[in-house]
Amino acid sequence: MYRRRDFLKALGGMGLCAFPPPSLSDQSASPNAPTADFCGEGSKAVPLFVPGTTGLFGRVALDAPLRMRAAPSTSPGVPWSLGYVVEQGERRYVNPTLVVRRGQRVRIDFENDLSDPTIVHWHGLSVDTPNDGAGLTLVSPGGSYSYDFEVHNRSGLYWYHPHPHGMTGGQAYRGLFGLIEIEDEDERHLRSALDLVPGSSEIPLILQDRRDAAYSPSDADRMHGFLGDTVLVNGSTCPFLDVATRIYRFRVLNASNARAYRLGIRTADGKEVAFTLIGTDGGLFESPMRCNEVFLASAERIDILVDLSGTAVGETLVLETRRFDPMHLEMAAPAANDHASMEHGAAPAGSASLSEVDHAAMGHTRAFPEGAPRALLQLRVRKHTAYAARPPAKLATMAPISVVDAAERPFRLGFAKGRWRINDRVFVMGETPIEVRRDTVEAWLIRNYFNSMPHAMHLHGFQLQVIERQTSPDQLAALKIDAKGRLATDVGWKDTVLVWPGESVKIAVDFKMPFEGAQTYVFHCHNLEHEDGGMMLGVKVV
Ligand code: C2O
Ligand code: CU
Ligand code: CU
Repeated sequence: MYRRRDFLKALGGMGLCAFPPPSLSDQSASPNAPTADFCGEGSKAVPLFVPGTTGLFGRVALDAPLRMRAAPSTSPGVPWSLGYVVEQGERRYVNPTLVVRRGQRVRIDFENDLSDPTIVHWHGLSVDTPNDGAGLTLVSPGGSYSYDFEVHNRSGLYWYHPHPHGMTGGQAYRGLFGLIEIEDEDERHLRSALDLVPGSSEIPLILQDRRDAAYSPSDADRMHGFLGDTVLVNGSTCPFLDVATRIYRFRVLNASNARAYRLGIRTADGKEVAFTLIGTDGGLFESPMRCNEVFLASAERIDILVDLSGTAVGETLVLETRRFDPMHLEMAAPAANDHASMEHGAAPAGSASLSEVDHAAMGHTRAFPEGAPRALLQLRVRKHTAYAARPPAKLATMAPISVVDAAERPFRLGFAKGRWRINDRVFVMGETPIEVRRDTVEAWLIRNYFNSMPHAMHLHGFQLQVIERQTSPDQLAALKIDAKGRLATDVGWKDTVLVWPGESVKIAVDFKMPFEGAQTYVFHCHNLEHEDGGMMLGVKVV
């Protein structure tokens, strides 16, 4: 059991994510935890699907060139109709977890067996334009494409998904996505210190909310993002995992098209349980941080440790998404500029629940609106085991990017003439309105209008650092850990950053590249309906 003085020591003066965690030993065990319907969907709890060494999300080492096909594919028990299929002798993988080492060469021969064009993007990886798969080049049905690159990134959980402009949301929703695990020294050190074994005590959790098999977004869906009525965790709703009294590592990816989550852990009878945040999109933090909850937007990842060594056999913990205001304020007053003149009219100023008015007016009041609470995964303590390991005080090293001499580049996120826009523009293939000099550091100041909604901004090709958040909404400001308004999830390397309505987020990007010549990337909102709708700009690094 982590005691307050222990984790304060481990933090080395770093602020808490929120208030101090409750002590598990103070909590009454709940031996009669519910076994069904805990997700409130009338569905029966099922064992969590844990990826193995073959099959769905099976881990595959990329020591030799890999042949991967995007194809119609079904796997037992999961609702997806498409998959990335790999066949190696007797072994068949769907959406394999690609396990690579830093510095390693990766060769993937990709084939398109879909009836639409597609391409694969390696989200978060530092690769050159031909290997980035941003959609500037597409593979036609029946065609193929060869990827060949070196792994430059730190250890961490990255992922891959399609990126054909205008069709990304539909292809990802139908099941095309997978994980990439990069390993290095820091990673091996962590696993051995905590005796973490992938597939038993280290488990990926892939969140995706769903409606039904078909992807047919309405105008409202295109505006707000495609939200589902159920949440899949590794492909099923209402999963549980039988656990022992030790530390577990969960590597969480939000693979939802649009939905953000406010993730936390509680006991079966509702007491909040702290967890340890050890990394984000671009890998491990310098030191672990205790947290009670974090927001996770589309494409973001968190790496967390859950310490069950102080629990008793029979107890149940629940990973949940908690209630928050989704802040879809697209119709909110004041109408200060063009961005406020929405094509679907105006809400009464001063209305207490603008987002409800908005959603009702848009005709997409669904069973599970964004920001509604839901249990996602039960952890059922079933076995006592002797376990005394503690997270290392130092996980990795992280050089801060200095923005002292950096040029500042402004971005505005807003809506006009029926489209979400960056700096009043929508994506035009072949245009690169952002031009950056290689080997320079830039500070990007991303401002989201008040009458907007949250946008998960993602840059290809480079990991970034969050420098500062200003005028954050109260529900976010309550989670800040420093005077710069940053969140616990802002202290590591990121490739996607959620910018809330009315908020300004300053990020630092070091445009150092290990590639010859100019490279072209994209900067876009990872709400896939917004991305497909053109909330994306070309970025040229010369
Ligand atoms: Cu995960 Cu351009 O995207
Ligand atoms: Cu909405
Ligand atoms: Cu967006």
